[in-house]
Amino acid sequence: MRHEALSDVSQEPILSNYYYTAILSHNIIESALAGHLSGKLGDSSLPSATLYELIMDVLTQDQEILTDVKYDLKAVKERDPACISYVQCFLNFKGFLACQAHRIVHKLWSKDRKVIALIIQNRVSEVFALDIHPGAKIGRGVMLDHATGLVIGETAVIGNNVSILHNVTLGGTGKMSGDRHPKIGDGVLIGAGTCVLGNVRIGEGAKIGAGSVVLRDVPPRTTAVGNPAKLIGGKENPIRLDKIPGLTMDHTLHISEWSDYVI
Ligand SMILES: CC(C)(COP(=O)(O)OP(=O)(O)OC[C@H]1O[C@@H](n2cnc3c(N)ncnc32)[C@H](O)[C@@H]1OP(=O)(O)O)[C@@H](O)C(=O)NCCC(=O)NCCS
Repeated sequence: MRHEALSDVSQEPILSNYYYTAILSHNIIESALAGHLSGKLGDSSLPSATLYELIMDVLTQDQEILTDVKYDLKAVKERDPACISYVQCFLNFKGFLACQAHRIVHKLWSKDRKVIALIIQNRVSEVFALDIHPGAKIGRGVMLDHATGLVIGETAVIGNNVSILHNVTLGGTGKMSGDRHPKIGDGVLIGAGTCVLGNVRIGEGAKIGAGSVVLRDVPPRTTAVGNPAKLIGGKENPIRLDKIPGLTMDHTLHISEWSDYVI
């Protein structure tokens, strides 16, 4: 990122001060991240300097988060054709920044520092226009693209290498309490404007088409589209589930049946 930052500054010298403060003055990624997040999220309830110390404390104690940060940066650079550099993602992509803020907030939540976790979550939602409950578990290599309008509920679990577009809701149905939110497997893609509702399981490598409403489990490596979402084959899974004798488009596969239909 330092090389990219120097190149950007040589093209746009008016950004020198900003780039120096955000990236070039830091020798380690944790202080750059803590500085950038606290600058964006600080306010009268939690001033930037206090927030910086808090974030640095969490990052110093939990090196796993730093590994997650690096995987997320790589994921965005590799999967988002609009991403021109790591620096651009680090400085400007609010989905990336909100995800890293969530990692801090989730750590505080799991250490039972719920009051402060909720205050930071509220600031993240005000600043980045998305709402991730502090209790939600998010894997690494995750891309939250655009991210505006994204809502992720308390008991949602998101695996590794998942891509989620804007205006996605991983929510409850309103009919359940306790463990009530979706479980998203590794490598899943969830298209823009989709609602996945209830404690449903989206199998690894599945794709959910933009604008879908998913109310049932989706098997691994299967595409689901529509409202309510139906299972279809998709380009990478040439067996269309509706073409299997005895299996209708409305059929909900029990998890134990998945392996019979995945190639
Ligand atoms: C679903 C998606 C992932 C494609 O998955 P795929 O497994 O490659 O599926 P295919 O492209 O082979 O399409 C399979 C079928 O689903 C249909 N389909 C694709 N996306 C759909 C959607 N969002 N809603 C309804 N039907 C859709 C196709 O027309 C095709 O129908 P057909 O078999 O009757 O011709 C992709 O279309 C999609 O919706 N991606 C999300 C992208 C997004 O959110 N972009 C926002 C960027 S800002």
